[in-house]
Amino acid sequence: MAVNDAERDAMSRALALATNGPRGLNPQVGAVILSPTGEVLAEGWHRGSGTPHAEVDALAQLTAEQTRGATAVVTLEPCNHTGRTGPCAQALIDAGVSRVVYAVDDPGDHSSGGADRLRAAGVDVDAGEQTAAAGILISDWLEVQRLGRPHVTVKWAQSLDGRAAASDGTSQWITGPEARADVHRRRAASDAIVVGTGTVLADDPALTARDGDALYAEQPVPVVIGSRPTPADAALHAHPKAPLFFASHDLASVLEELRTRGIQRVFVEGGPTLASAFIAAGLADTVLAYVAPVLLGGSRLALTDIGVDTIADARRLTVDEWMPLGDDLLVIAHPTAPEGA
Ligand SMILES: NC(=O)c1ccc[n+]([C@@H]2O[C@H](COP(=O)([O-])OP(=O)(O)OC[C@H]3O[C@@H](n4cnc5c(N)ncnc54)[C@H](OP(=O)(O)O)[C@@H]3O)[C@@H](O)[C@H]2O)c1
Repeated sequence: MAVNDAERDAMSRALALATNGPRGLNPQVGAVILSPTGEVLAEGWHRGSGTPHAEVDALAQLTAEQTRGATAVVTLEPCNHTGRTGPCAQALIDAGVSRVVYAVDDPGDHSSGGADRLRAAGVDVDAGEQTAAAGILISDWLEVQRLGRPHVTVKWAQSLDGRAAASDGTSQWITGPEARADVHRRRAASDAIVVGTGTVLADDPALTARDGDALYAEQPVPVVIGSRPTPADAALHAHPKAPLFFASHDLASVLEELRTRGIQRVFVEGGPTLASAFIAAGLADTVLAYVAPVLLGGSRLALTDIGVDTIADARRLTVDEWMPLGDDLLVIAHPTAPEGA
């Protein structure tokens, strides 16, 4: 059965409702229940991990009589697994819903299959309504499901001759104001900002996202990786979000811990040791290199050992964008997929 106007409107409404929920471990999902004649009976959304999913939130507002023969319009395929809540597909079947319209397929190994379960129970299912808009809304969450960890951007600023600092360790500032403002905008769009203890001890960074002197409303969680202690008077202790410290060099386990905290986008800001470790481990999904027309010479290279001993092992990147920023150039790139991949 084709999607009708009432269902299309309900999907637009469900997408708006979804944004009421928090970004985090679970996706933002909205739902609208329609009567057989297309009137809105109930609306719901997901309020975060451990709370009812959107369609169950909406069903809970209705009597069994109202839900029988109703249509559920949901932004994500109803789930098929028992986590902290029961399978939504079964809840819809039990409620006697006769039709389900959803936007995005659930990519989860354990949670997908809800549509098949519904169809097997005789429910009419229509997938793909407003998929693009729904996909954009939860794109970071979908990326976490695909990667099995948060998306990682590794950023550095370098001189034209590839140095990240002068010989004495000073690096503020290699780039100009436009490039630094761009970094702050990208920090604000990240869930966590990650540095090594070396950067904390050398630069004492605030790790906030700033628009001039003002703080952006959205602030990434500051994260420090490494075994050396952070001084009690370090600037990052004044960050609006409580910093996280990992006395470890195991980047995969740090990312796993960040994922369980609902962090979807990680912004790694150095320095060279940590940036190189992320790249060597194959954990850099996006590289941002801010290149300034300045020469520093010396030994403080932007990257150290990334496990490339011979040119055949070079880490090839595909450039997504070359962006002039004042006198500087930002190169945005991602690892080139191996041939045949
Ligand atoms: N140009 C830029 O974009 C930029 C950005 C940031 C910093 N910098 C400059 O970089 C210099 C600091 O460099 P850095 O390399 O020492 O800083 P870093 O990369 O921030 O910190 C290095 C430390 O990270 C810890 N670490 C955590 N995980 C690791 C892993 N998997 N492998 C290895 N180490 C790991 C280690 O600390 P523990 O020994 O404590 O365990 C290591 O010594 C300063 O001069 C600073 O100004 C430049």
